[in-house]
Amino acid sequence: MIPGDGIGPEIVREARKVLDAVCSRYGHKFIYSEVLLGGASIDAHGVPLTEEAVETAKASDAVLMGSIGGDAKTSPWYRLEPSRRPEAGLLAIRKELNLFANLRPAYLYQELKAACPLKEEVIGEGFDMIIVRELTGGLYFGERKTVEENGIETAIDTLSYNENEIRRIAVKAFDIAMKRRKKVTSVDKANVLDSSRLWRKVVEEVAKDYPEVTLEHMLVDNCAMQLVHNPGQFDVILTENMFGDILSDEASMVTGSIGMLSSASLNDTKFGLYEPSHGSAPDIAGQNKANPVATILSAAMMLRYSLDLDKEADAVEMAVQKVLADGYRTCDIMSEGCMPVGTEEMGDLIAAAV
Ligand code: IPM
Ligand code: MG
Repeated sequence: MIPGDGIGPEIVREARKVLDAVCSRYGHKFIYSEVLLGGASIDAHGVPLTEEAVETAKASDAVLMGSIGGDAKTSPWYRLEPSRRPEAGLLAIRKELNLFANLRPAYLYQELKAACPLKEEVIGEGFDMIIVRELTGGLYFGERKTVEENGIETAIDTLSYNENEIRRIAVKAFDIAMKRRKKVTSVDKANVLDSSRLWRKVVEEVAKDYPEVTLEHMLVDNCAMQLVHNPGQFDVILTENMFGDILSDEASMVTGSIGMLSSASLNDTKFGLYEPSHGSAPDIAGQNKANPVATILSAAMMLRYSLDLDKEADAVEMAVQKVLADGYRTCDIMSEGCMPVGTEEMGDLIAAAV
């Protein structure tokens, strides 16, 4: 368990409550160890990620995480050099654990239609997509530096991908598509970038092994537009690290609230790190306002992908659906006629529904 910073500890607490309910309902026992990451680790150890934390994570079957980071304007963490800030700890743990595949589902709950910012006719029958984001390559991990020559500062970030990195994430996306509606939209910027042209070529090679899956390529700018124009067209979106970061925030907003969206980061084994797609929201931390659902749904993904507990995962997802259908809402998804609840109450209700 990595509670993290900001609203992290309170949302992880609610997810744990729901996991406890799963234990008593289905007769399981989970053993938890708590690990610090991000700002909390900087405060305790002076660095955003310690080796012991990595070892504890590696010795576990799965990691459930809240969120990390603080307010960049006011927090002392952001007066440290970039490689010692909270986010560096998150990137380091992704890399250390080889979590190259980040799955971010974006699903429109019928109950939350009112919170969706899109017009009725754009929503249509609703939508249910999953973004498969490459997580350990590209701009995030390429060489970077800032140099000064003749009094002029220049900053350089490098975007590189090799064919193996592209192939393994493409295989994940196609495997997932086989269990869904069998459509992959591979998103790139092949009209400009070499890395995208290689991406397209390798994805096409992988597609040959999946004759049942329909593959389409889409340029990232067009994809950003299509997500708000016709989100129902997407099943699996496969894309590189930076594009996936941006598009997954956009996809989450069209579902009504980023507070609803879970994510899983996987390597080649059953191991995974599960975290909400949203950030640490320091402005509402400790006020019992945060929506714990994204973390609770991340725990459901953990049950499904790392622990092979499918019916338990179903139970958690159905519990969330029931509580929404009963009309309970945290403030981020509140709409007329519903009952406002806080973080803790939301966790209690979902645990009880399990
Ligand atoms: C995310 C976050 C991270 C990312 C940040 C906190 C480094 O935005 O998980 O999407 O950019 O990957
Ligand atoms: Mg992001």
